Amino acid sequence: MLAGKHILVGITGGIAAYKVATLVRLLVKEGADVKVVMTETAKQFITPLTMATLSKNPVLVDFFNPENGEWNSHVSLGLWADAYIIAPATANSVGKMAAGIADNLLLTTYLSAKCPVFVAPAMDLDMYRHPATEINIETLKSHGDTIIDAETGELASGLDGKGRMAEPETIVACLNSYFDASFSGLRVLVTAGPTYEKIDPVRYISNYSSGKMGYAIAETLAQQGADVILVSGPTHLSPLHPNIRRVNVVSANEMYEECLRLFPSCNIAVMCAAVADFTPENQEENKIKQKTDLTISLTKTKDIAAQLGRMKNDGQILAGFALETENEVDNAREKLSSKNLDFIVLNSLNDIGSGFGVDTNKIMIIDSNGTEIRFDTKSKKDVAKDIVSYIRQILS
Ligand code: CTP
Repeated sequence: MLAGKHILVGITGGIAAYKVATLVRLLVKEGADVKVVMTETAKQFITPLTMATLSKNPVLVDFFNPENGEWNSHVSLGLWADAYIIAPATANSVGKMAAGIADNLLLTTYLSAKCPVFVAPAMDLDMYRHPATEINIETLKSHGDTIIDAETGELASGLDGKGRMAEPETIVACLNSYFDASFSGLRVLVTAGPTYEKIDPVRYISNYSSGKMGYAIAETLAQQGADVILVSGPTHLSPLHPNIRRVNVVSANEMYEECLRLFPSCNIAVMCAAVADFTPENQEENKIKQKTDLTISLTKTKDIAAQLGRMKNDGQILAGFALETENEVDNAREKLSSKNLDFIVLNSLNDIGSGFGVDTNKIMIIDSNGTEIRFDTKSKKDVAKDIVSYIRQILS
């Protein structure tokens, strides 16, 4: 996956810098074109000569060459790179990145990089679990950076705990999966978010769905080369990847119409939306005024997944979700078969860390042969990766 890719490696001043020699060697072995930018302190841990020799490119440290005034442009470095991996990222550099401080070439390049940024933190365990570091790491995630989590083990301080930089092989695997284009040429329909069912001009019926799970699936598929159509109910999210085309809808009926129109041209559909099951029988044109009593008659919405299940041809893959509060597995199995799905992703509101609004999820995948695969509680982004790799397995 990495052959011909421009990989910029940023080294900050931590003892794990010695491992970056192996990282660069592995990247070059995979056929990547590697450039290295270091901070002044990183030079104390590994020499520019080592990194220049391994990367086969001059190492950049300063904004300009003091001998001849030649300018090292952070802007062109950021544009050159297909991916920027900052490893090791010390607590100091992570803090500066989170705060937008740009007092060295590595950091100015971070601020101007247009490519995806991967950050592999490394520090002592107490620094790693300090609330300031945790907040900084969350800030980087919210910028769209991928954090390659530190590992647990013996640290340079002699203490044992979380803070070791991820192994070079793990970092390479992470980059490989980013550049994986297994979905290229495939069109995928993803539904996400809630629907709003209008009662009158100021009121509606809806649910707590934030859309995060569906958006994470759309993002992961797009990163792996899919052409994604995201039919989204109202959310505060915006998709980042250029391969995602968003179609905004409000009501269950609008979502139904769009999905029916789009599904025939898609290879895969992942029905992640929390579609309202009922909608008011009558939508009042004027605001309903205060009364002593109000009864709203509801009628059932159309089941989008079930309809796509009826339309599905042999080559298409249709996946659904089931959010359950009781008899979870039985209910999910019933939906799997009644909607003619290829697999269903079950999450239970009884599991801590699952459900609406939270950033994590705990899922089980049940396929049409009845096989159950259980996963641990993970971030919704990592759950999306698990679901997408499961789809990749079906395709292969
Ligand atoms: N779904 C759909 N259209 C609907 C209702 C649900 O496409 N009108 C899809 C959801 O996107 C999900 C799956 O069907 O992929 C299951 O949704 P869920 O709300 O868990 O179940 P329901 O079928 O609505 O059944 P119930 O509310 O009785 O649990």
